[in-house]
Amino acid sequence: MKITVVGTGYVGLVSGTCFADVGIEVVCVDIDAQKIEKLRNGIIPIYEPGLEELVVRNHKNGRLKFTTDLGEAIQGSEVVFIAVGTPPGEDGSADLSYVLGVAKEVGEKMSDYLVVATKSTVPVGTGVKVKAEIEKALQNRNSDLAFSVASNPEFLKEGAAVEDFLKPDRIVIGTEDERAQKIMQRLYKPFQLSGERIVYMDIPSAEMTKYAANAMLATKISFMNDIANLCERVGADVNMVRRGIGSDPRIGNKFIYPGVGYGGSCFPKDVKAIIRTAKQYDYELRVLQAVEDVNDAQKHILVEKVKKHFGNDLTGKTFALLGLSFKPNTDDMREAPSLVIIDELKKLGAEVKAYDPVAMDHAREFYLGDKVEYCKDSYEAANDADALLLVTEWSEFRIPNWDVLGKLLKNKVIFDGRNIYDANYLKELGFTYYGIGLKN
Ligand code: UDX
Repeated sequence: MKITVVGTGYVGLVSGTCFADVGIEVVCVDIDAQKIEKLRNGIIPIYEPGLEELVVRNHKNGRLKFTTDLGEAIQGSEVVFIAVGTPPGEDGSADLSYVLGVAKEVGEKMSDYLVVATKSTVPVGTGVKVKAEIEKALQNRNSDLAFSVASNPEFLKEGAAVEDFLKPDRIVIGTEDERAQKIMQRLYKPFQLSGERIVYMDIPSAEMTKYAANAMLATKISFMNDIANLCERVGADVNMVRRGIGSDPRIGNKFIYPGVGYGGSCFPKDVKAIIRTAKQYDYELRVLQAVEDVNDAQKHILVEKVKKHFGNDLTGKTFALLGLSFKPNTDDMREAPSLVIIDELKKLGAEVKAYDPVAMDHAREFYLGDKVEYCKDSYEAANDADALLLVTEWSEFRIPNWDVLGKLLKNKVIFDGRNIYDANYLKELGFTYYGIGLKN
């Protein structure tokens, strides 16, 4: 079986590589010639555990190819996945020009029946537009070639994308006809390890499933952040509450960790997008509007605590900030709470010494420039700082040498944005400790 994956970004590269790894012949296409050249040489544009090894191995064995030529790639392919970017346009809605551009080119260059499946997260209704674009291109060349459209959203978590792809919770496939469904079924056979993992549905439902999944997860987080903030006020401990409610299987113990707000490429964008879609249909998604508002406020929570402790003027103060990426195991800085926190600390007159195990180069180049001082480890960041802020819970931050940290810091004050430290233990060691939603 041969397939084409268009777009070698996060979704496209992980999907293409994993399909190749189960034996499928995959051609990955991108318009960026430099990127393609690098990939051919085993240079991966993103940080994703396990991906490089798989790319190199499958490229070497010839199952995974990289090209800029879409027309050539789709010859003999049974499925072409559209996995190009959908950047937010000026008004915040997803810009579909890349997706539709690929659809048009497929229509211009296909020479046999094809399933054209969107894998990028696209607004509900995009399947119809993709179909119309291909039809138009075929008409222009007086062709009556058959094709099917499909929606096959991805549910990969950054930092665990390869594993998520190879061992998925579920695979969602939206199709309009049996022919396409059968091909998609064959394609995903190697991943269906047990149970009813493949959920078939129509295209709009598949498109909606992706948004509903991300919106529900974002809701859990904002809900817990809201409860955490109330816990502080009433003298309750959100860690206890979290365990208390998480043991109810209807609620579940995942995604109910309070913190400094959700970030990343998916939750913020998708929550906004679905609110917008609803507005277009004259409907207001009130719960999700609140989810977004709570999250925006939560990104400020750590600085609120800093202000309570040190006062509103932070001139002359320096803060050690641990963790820049929006979550551990990625260098992704999109919508990272660290950006809001750094911005606010600077505005209040403070200096920031930051350390992140992976994201510093990326952060410096694209997000922060010289706004912060970049340190070689937590201890260098803590040296002479007025307090320490834990923003992203990388594992290497979990058990620091508190003796050393305590001596390096000017004041033994910790603001823990992810509740990873033991408040009582730190208090015993003489630290002033602030968490999220804890008793003080
Ligand atoms: C998410 C979805 O999990 C994935 O299915 C979808 O395809 C894309 O969006 P990702 O953005 O990679 O994946 O990150 P995820 O691990 O889900 O974390 C998202 C954010 O939520 C992070 O900022 C994280 O810190 C935050 N989070 C998560 C919490 O604040 N509390 C939690 O309990 C869980």
